[in-house]
Amino acid sequence: MSIKYLPQKKLWLLETKNTSYALGLDEQGNLHQLYWGQKLPYAEDYPLADINCGQSSFDFREGFAPLEYPAWGGLIYSEPCLKAVLPGDVRAASLEYLTHEIEQAGTGKSQEVFRLSITLKDRYWAGLQVRLCYNVYYEFDLIGKHAEIINKGDKAITLESVQSGIWNLPEGDNYRLTHLTGKWAGETQIRRTVLTEGKKVLESRRGPTSPHANPWFAVDSGNAQEEAGEVWFGALRWSGNWKIVAEQSPFSALKVTGGINDFDFAWELEANDAFKTPEFIAGYTDRGFGAASRQLHKYQKKHVLPADGRDKLRKVIYNSWEATYFNVNEADQMALAEKAAATGVELFVVDDGWFGQRNGDNAGLGDWYVNAAKFPNGLKPLIQKVNDLGMDFGIWVEPEMVNPDSDLYREHPDWAYYFPGVPGTQARNQLVLNLAKKEVQSYIYNFLDDLLSNNNISFIKWDMNRHFSEPGWPEAPVKKQREIWVRHTLAIYDIVGKLKKKHTNVIFESCSGGGGRVDLGILQYMDQFWPSDNTDAFDRLKIQEGFSQAYCPKTMVCWVTDSPNYVNGRKLSLAYRFHSAMMGTLGVGGNLNHWTPEEIQTAKDMISQYKEIRGTVQEGSLYRLLSPSAGDLTAVQYISEDAAEVLLFIFLHSSQLGTGKRTVRLRGLEDRALYSIDSQEQPLSGAALMYRGIELDIKGDFESRLVRMHKIEK
Ligand code: GLA
Repeated sequence: MSIKYLPQKKLWLLETKNTSYALGLDEQGNLHQLYWGQKLPYAEDYPLADINCGQSSFDFREGFAPLEYPAWGGLIYSEPCLKAVLPGDVRAASLEYLTHEIEQAGTGKSQEVFRLSITLKDRYWAGLQVRLCYNVYYEFDLIGKHAEIINKGDKAITLESVQSGIWNLPEGDNYRLTHLTGKWAGETQIRRTVLTEGKKVLESRRGPTSPHANPWFAVDSGNAQEEAGEVWFGALRWSGNWKIVAEQSPFSALKVTGGINDFDFAWELEANDAFKTPEFIAGYTDRGFGAASRQLHKYQKKHVLPADGRDKLRKVIYNSWEATYFNVNEADQMALAEKAAATGVELFVVDDGWFGQRNGDNAGLGDWYVNAAKFPNGLKPLIQKVNDLGMDFGIWVEPEMVNPDSDLYREHPDWAYYFPGVPGTQARNQLVLNLAKKEVQSYIYNFLDDLLSNNNISFIKWDMNRHFSEPGWPEAPVKKQREIWVRHTLAIYDIVGKLKKKHTNVIFESCSGGGGRVDLGILQYMDQFWPSDNTDAFDRLKIQEGFSQAYCPKTMVCWVTDSPNYVNGRKLSLAYRFHSAMMGTLGVGGNLNHWTPEEIQTAKDMISQYKEIRGTVQEGSLYRLLSPSAGDLTAVQYISEDAAEVLLFIFLHSSQLGTGKRTVRLRGLEDRALYSIDSQEQPLSGAALMYRGIELDIKGDFESRLVRMHKIEK
């Protein structure tokens, strides 16, 4: 059984393949987290919940205990999960156990999800109930938690903070937090910091997820490595304002609390209504950061990605952005499409500039009609041409935005967020539409539904090129105005969800000026991410390394673009650019009109090679062997699902100081199996490849290799 309730001990045990998570009640009915880590053999191994653990009037019981879902009130001073204003302006709550339900106990053998819910209620106002819901992803050693705040009373209450949950770590002092930071053109950079008493807050207050921090964390005891050591890790399934708080008490207790950011948040919860938080998913491994990533990757491929595209391999994309910028038109796009098809591209995407009066970033957003000067016959002839060339057609949109210079804004200035009397602050000459408004939601859904219904479009790149400002919704009752932070995100989920239901074969790509909306929340609705506008193949190694901590390679779109790169002027060989981009979902984004016949031939060869290996890249297991931050050699390995194919991508920054041949040690192979290696005659055993390593003759600056290995069947 994966979920057990032991009534004598008042203990719930949630077990995955290798880990367990225990919850228990103390004598006063408070719910505690009792344990999280390596699976323990006996029920007696788990402690009892103890509320009498304080040691002074300043460090008192409930403030001390690892409560599972503390509401602010009483002597709780740490980050609360719930802060609510109850009837009578009571600004505190106190939760005790009411009931529980094991919805799906399971056998613990399959890839099913097992479910438990525990309902708490307020001790003093019977109207407040909190239902804590647990999903146990047995096979992947992950547990997801979310909460539903239910108003069973007859008066509205105000929620000021509703977190998804807390993960309490075992007592310890040397915890280290690994997190992802970034900026435009420099997303998902790995940072590691030792935690001391106090809080480290990772968050977005900007509307979407943001490139500056990503809703993922990993904590280790100070000495974990890529493939060894204890790591507790997690991620939020949410694309709006979020926060993850790592809070260390003076008593060696570490809590990681996460959910919707409570900054400027308030939610009016009407009688008989409920508020559901996003899921906070987390896991434990004693096999290092690499294993943690692989658990998350497998889980998202099985449980998060939209079902229709989940098992399909991603196609090779061509995207016109860096080739033509806003200067798109029928003839030029047709010419590019011909070249793209000749290299083996399978999906041709027209980026920004095809609609409204969109000749630059100063006008047109919001006017989703085809620009007649650029496409006098509409999109159909181009789509037909692309289809005739054997490719799917895709298109770029930025539905949440409006340029003040647009028909939409002239007609509906109140559709953007605004505070009365305050001019809207523009960024990239645009304002954010208020997606809390039903009429704005309908407008967006309808234009996209029309676009998809009237054209043979298989792919949408959904962009968002600025963050919120003046987040006002003056038309709504005052008590509801701060709900926009959540309503905006829910509206996107709703719109894309409905579109996906109707247009089942359309693949969606989540983009926000690059990797500004990369999270597990949007991944329930969109199939892949644009990780960065930085397409420099060397910079991408670090961006992709950080991205891969939490997100699987299938969702990581990488284009091969022109050299020198527009972001940093770096010149790289075409092979290096391809190798870097082949580590995720491959695309091409250069101006193919300027590529020489030799370059087109190289592209053709590389794309055809990618098609042979993409099953392993997109569906296999990823091992980060050598980090681009650690030395001059970067190495990433993939093993196919059936363990038969092994790929090794190698990148050398620059040869220095007479370094000779290089040896790279592989991971995750079968000791006694023999592997053929495409770069040498002699096969080697898995053990030799892992413990002795593979020798590579690689010299020069910005050199790269792809080594393919195959297990030899006996
Ligand atoms: C953002 C995206 C780019 C491109 C432009 C178009 O910056 O990240 O890929 O689509 O917008 O304006």
